[in-house]
Formats: sequence, structure tokens, C-alpha cells
Amino acid sequence: MLTLESSALIGSGLRRECYFHPEDVNKCIKVVVSGDHKETRREQSYYRLLEKRNISWKMLARFYGNVDTNLGEGAVFDLIRDFNGKISKTLEHYVSAHSETDPISQYLRRALPQLKQYLLKWKIVTMSLKPQNIVYKRTHESKGFLVVIDNIGNSDFIPICNYVDWMAIQKIHRKWQRFEDLLANGSLR
Ligand SMILES: Nc1ncnc2c1ncn2[C@@H]1O[C@H](COP(=O)(O)OP(=O)(O)O)[C@@H](O)[C@H]1O
Ligand SMILES: [Mg+2]
Repeated sequence: MLTLESSALIGSGLRRECYFHPEDVNKCIKVVVSGDHKETRREQSYYRLLEKRNISWKMLARFYGNVDTNLGEGAVFDLIRDFNGKISKTLEHYVSAHSETDPISQYLRRALPQLKQYLLKWKIVTMSLKPQNIVYKRTHESKGFLVVIDNIGNSDFIPICNYVDWMAIQKIHRKWQRFEDLLANGSLR
């Protein structure tokens, strides 16, 4: 069993807490702290589908299975880091902390369509896309690309678009439009 110390907490959302993996600097462990494991099971079954499809994991944190921890079952994922080893910050952070004239905002604006192309190419369906569930991985001082860290998959009763490409593509376009509307209220456009 792995022990997750409170000092190893990286961040938390509405459902889960995200900790440093005690034995692997490039991985994190997420434990559910609020609600049931239904969402986690849905997410993990979608990850299994993506594994079978042999997608590129460039812009999506890869899932490596579950481990036992002192805080209950933990899900192991890639921990996204910047070029300097620091934990990549969320898009939410950059939208609120950087003015539109900052170089980083210019690069972020270019990173957005690249993420859309990536999701379309690999037909990765998300639930609603939110700035707190996407991090900006800096590969240089300002340059970088976006990585989705949470909320992928499909909660449709019959998730047909997981298997029918054109339906997946339609869904990705719809989710992206809503995401852009959300960002339009911030300072990125
Ligand atoms: N793979 C990751 N790499 C870097 N930071 C992460 C990663 N996963 C989560 N985080 C951080 O932890 C926070 C909570 O994780 P998240 O998976 O979004 O939890 P929840 O399911 O509760 O929304 C994120 O907003 C982010 O700041
Ligand atoms: Mg989240």
C-alpha cells in the first residue's frame, strides 16, 4: 500500500484530490474524496477504449491503473510538468493571471486550436471542457501546449459516439464551441 502524505497534495477539484506519486516523480495519484466512484469508473472505461485505439497521449494525461493507498483506491496518471520540472499550471490560472499582451497569452492562443485538432484527430470525446481541467505544459519560457487532465469520456446512456467516428467528431465540435464561449468571458479572446 502506498502512503500519501498531506504534504504531497498537488491540487483538488470538486471530486478528487491529486497527490505526488511517492515512487515516481512523473506520476500523480488521484483519490476520490467527494461522491461515489461512478464517475471514476466511467472515466476509466473510456481510457481503456483509448488504449485499445492506440492514440497519442501528447495532450491527454495517460492513465496507468489503480493502486491501494492509505486514502483508499487511487488512480495513477501522468503528472504534467513544465520544462523546468515545475508542475504545469491550469489554463484557469493563466487566464486569470496573465494579461492579453503577455507573451504567454499569445502562445496560449495558438495552443488552443492545436488541442482542438488533437481531440479531433484521435476522436477523444470529453464531458464539458473547463479551464481548470486543462493544464498548459510549458516547453520553453512561454511556449508550450495544452494537456487535458480531467473529465474525458461520455455520459450518454448509449455512448454510440465512442464507436461511430462522425458522431464523435460532431460531439467534439459541440463541446469545443461551448468551451470557447466559456473562455470568451475570460481574457483569452
Ligand atoms: N495530471 C496532472 N498533472 C498536473 N496537475 C494535475 C494533474 N491532475 C490534476 N492536477 C491538479 O489537481 C487538480 C484536481 O484534479 P482533477 O483531476 O481535476 O480533480 P477533480 O476530478 O476533483 O476535478 C487540477 O485542477 C490540477 O490543478
Ligand atoms: Mg477537475
